[in-house]
Amino acid sequence: MIKKDYVPVTSFRTELASPQPGRGGLPARAHLRSDAPRQPLDGAWQVRRRPDGGWSEIRVPGHLPLQGHGTPIYANVQFPFPVDPPFPPDDNPEFDHRLEFEADPAVLAHPSALRFEGVDGAATVRLNDVELGTLRGSRLTTEFDTTGVLRDGVNVLQVRLAQWSAHSYLEDQDMWWMPGIFRSVTLLARPAGGIRDVFVHASYDHRDGSGTLRVDVDSDAAVTVSVPALGREDLSAGESHHFRSVDPWTAETPSLYAVRVHTQQETVTLRAGFRTVHVDDATLMLNGRPLLLRGVNRHEHDPLHGRTVDLATARAELELMKRHNINAVRTSHYPPQADFLDLTDELGLYVMVENDLETHGFELNDWRGNPSDDPLWHDAILDRMRRTVERDKNHPSVLFWSLGNEAGTGANLDAIAQWTKRRDPSRPVHYEGDRRSRHVDVYSRMYATTAEVERIGAGTEPEDEHRRELPFLLCEYAHAMGNGPGGLSEYQELFHRYPRLAGGFIWEWVEHALHAGTTAEGRTVQLYGGDFGERVHDGSFVIDGLVHADRTPGPGLADVARVFAPVGLTIDAERSTVTIVNRYHSLDLTHLDADFPLPPVAPGDTVTVPLEVSSLVTLSLRDRRQGHEVAWAQHVPPRPAPAVEATAVPSGDLRLGPAVFDARTGMPVRLGDLGLHDVAVSLWRAPTENDRGQGWEERDLPSMADRWAAARLGDLRTRLIGITADGPALVVRTRSGPPVIDAGVDVTWRWTSDGDALALDLTIEPYGRWPCEWARAGIDLRLDRPTARVTWTGWGPGPQYPDTGQGARYGTFTAGRDTYAVRTVRPQEHGARRVDDATIDLAPAPENRPERAGAGLRVRGVDVPLTVRPWSRETVAATAHDHELPAAASTWISLDAAASGVGTASCGQGVLPPYRLAPSTRRLRVVLQQPIREEPVATSSYQSVSEPSP
Ligand code: GAL
Repeated sequence: MIKKDYVPVTSFRTELASPQPGRGGLPARAHLRSDAPRQPLDGAWQVRRRPDGGWSEIRVPGHLPLQGHGTPIYANVQFPFPVDPPFPPDDNPEFDHRLEFEADPAVLAHPSALRFEGVDGAATVRLNDVELGTLRGSRLTTEFDTTGVLRDGVNVLQVRLAQWSAHSYLEDQDMWWMPGIFRSVTLLARPAGGIRDVFVHASYDHRDGSGTLRVDVDSDAAVTVSVPALGREDLSAGESHHFRSVDPWTAETPSLYAVRVHTQQETVTLRAGFRTVHVDDATLMLNGRPLLLRGVNRHEHDPLHGRTVDLATARAELELMKRHNINAVRTSHYPPQADFLDLTDELGLYVMVENDLETHGFELNDWRGNPSDDPLWHDAILDRMRRTVERDKNHPSVLFWSLGNEAGTGANLDAIAQWTKRRDPSRPVHYEGDRRSRHVDVYSRMYATTAEVERIGAGTEPEDEHRRELPFLLCEYAHAMGNGPGGLSEYQELFHRYPRLAGGFIWEWVEHALHAGTTAEGRTVQLYGGDFGERVHDGSFVIDGLVHADRTPGPGLADVARVFAPVGLTIDAERSTVTIVNRYHSLDLTHLDADFPLPPVAPGDTVTVPLEVSSLVTLSLRDRRQGHEVAWAQHVPPRPAPAVEATAVPSGDLRLGPAVFDARTGMPVRLGDLGLHDVAVSLWRAPTENDRGQGWEERDLPSMADRWAAARLGDLRTRLIGITADGPALVVRTRSGPPVIDAGVDVTWRWTSDGDALALDLTIEPYGRWPCEWARAGIDLRLDRPTARVTWTGWGPGPQYPDTGQGARYGTFTAGRDTYAVRTVRPQEHGARRVDDATIDLAPAPENRPERAGAGLRVRGVDVPLTVRPWSRETVAATAHDHELPAAASTWISLDAAASGVGTASCGQGVLPPYRLAPSTRRLRVVLQQPIREEPVATSSYQSVSEPSP
């Protein structure tokens, strides 16, 4: 009976400082689907703040700070309390939870257990005044024996929880600190003569297509195992059974076989997948073929419910991943809710399950006292790993065990690596934080630069013999924070080139913004670190995902889909061919619908076939089963620059065709009846999150944003040099430069017109010694009404910077104001599309300022980066949250001769050399005119044409 462990509640505080594992729990085991009765205890509980708060209702599962009890704290590496292990601070929020429930007689008829799947914080559990034990390990399952304690009629369950404990030192993941019972609580009948645990071992032999199955069962009773789909009803447990032919499990072909494990008292149903993962010649192999991981890191996050994510949402997330060619998930940095892995088994995704362990904050103290290397913490760390492996061991989708994240090095990590290999020799063990890689089966790194990854792939990096035998993966790369990630293609090309490179996991899938209602204008208030008054926090660093917190995709997701395409298509217009590379693991291409004759191509093979390429060609491959596009390619023929016959001549009062120029500045101020404002040359952009980071390849230098700020790139002052007529051209010469320094740009604006359109041929030439690279080189102008929509022929629908936008294709697109501008939680430069012909329609003027209905600006050119947004760059750069941006009143337009790439310096390498913008002469040719239109664009209010951000 559990009572033997009873410790009076007065020791609750003392025990919080214990580095020991939780007490009183049953041995860790698999999360089994059983026919034994169960009783969910989720729902309305009572909670009160200790010592003297009043009781109120709370939803379980849920986090306390998201239900009005305390506040969330976002910190990445730094601990928000003194590093004084194993002690928590005295300032430690404590809560009592209470649930009264009637026991279900079906459960009560048997021995029983109480299961907690996730309680964030450290807790002590009492049922009917009997202490069951303590909960440690926030994202891990604990079961308590309740036999003899659970009673007929009303039962009282109490959970006393403290936010901080010794175990907080092991849970320093980069995410919100949010205590609470955030996963389900369930009472389970545990019938005598039932099944305690099951371990399914199912492997595949690619040489002959056979499968081997062994089902280890922990039970006191006689057990039978059946696999109906293989025609076997009476397999003995604990022995290997050979099947001559099975369908192997892969993410592309997730074939599952129901396995029934049966005793007289209990039946458990599992789904086995036959697959074998191993390492051969430093190559990661699945079922005998090389495996490429096109993965993402997934935290559990919901903008309203935090790490309580319902299963329907998780399924939708996985389906969204599959539609974007993502085939792998690292459960960063803890085991996900248990049922999540049923979904990855069924839908087909490779999973790296990570232990709930991170001690990163010790790094800021030179790793002094790191629990990973202190015997005091050995048991707690082993306990965590054991519970991770035992719970999830039966899932075919789980290919790797990860020991944890950023926990330094030490004997305790070595010990859990060894334990894991002994317990489950079938799966490679992963841990990134130990460069010696002595106890792991894959060499893993995070954010290694492409230059280093290339050396690792090519085997030119100095390595010891052991590590050289390991395949390589990037457990994190391509930090998807804000505008970006830039440079995805370069990584992928390396993954394709070198068999040792097994791919990796993009950081990260979902942003962790917390939503807090909407503004009067209807914008969602999205919060990040510091917004809850935290004194230690890491700001917006938690907003770094391919999808927003509500899982609407950011533009990077379309780029990922293109870069991860399992089929390579390359059109060669000169030779009139298309080359097809099948990069699936094991599928041929017969499941794809193509709009061209698609030849059979075996996995790993390349085939070139003739293709008629005369004009614009778009090839698209669609998965017939799931209906989504898996790959596409385009041939876009060269387009001539738009010709404007220079028939108009400049007049003495500085008019040229439809344009009027200002004699003081030399800049155009009107185009027909459209006012042009603040026309100026510009070299700056509102820093992106990546611009604000220090690239890992140049850590000794300030961030790009700081270099620009030091050079005052955003504060150019202009001097008019002269205005001359050169035949039909009006030539304006200006010089612009930042204050303080003697470097700048000489700009020649050469304007011509055919009486309707106004052509600009602009040359920007640097002078002096420039102290930094440029963000862009182009012009800005403002129209004094907000945009209604933008319609363009060019690249879209998503934005493109020199190292992003792989998902953008040539076509004609329309976007509302917000969609075009691309709004991000923290405002920053975004939204440039390369256009050939774009029309910016302005919203109708308010009634007191009648202007021509349907006014706007048309811009023509070839591949001209066009940014359109309702705020100035300065406003964007100075605003911390999207919902704080002012309502749209004007339109700011930028047209670029050139722009810098974005890179991933928010965490990782900066902008790669080919995408940087060294000061040099740049030329922009565009044609501006008023759109010819009969009908007004939008007749209702401004709001009716705005759209939510994508
Ligand atoms: C890694 C870490 C992640 C996250 C990322 C930056 O160092 O493992 O948890 O912090 O950097 O977003």
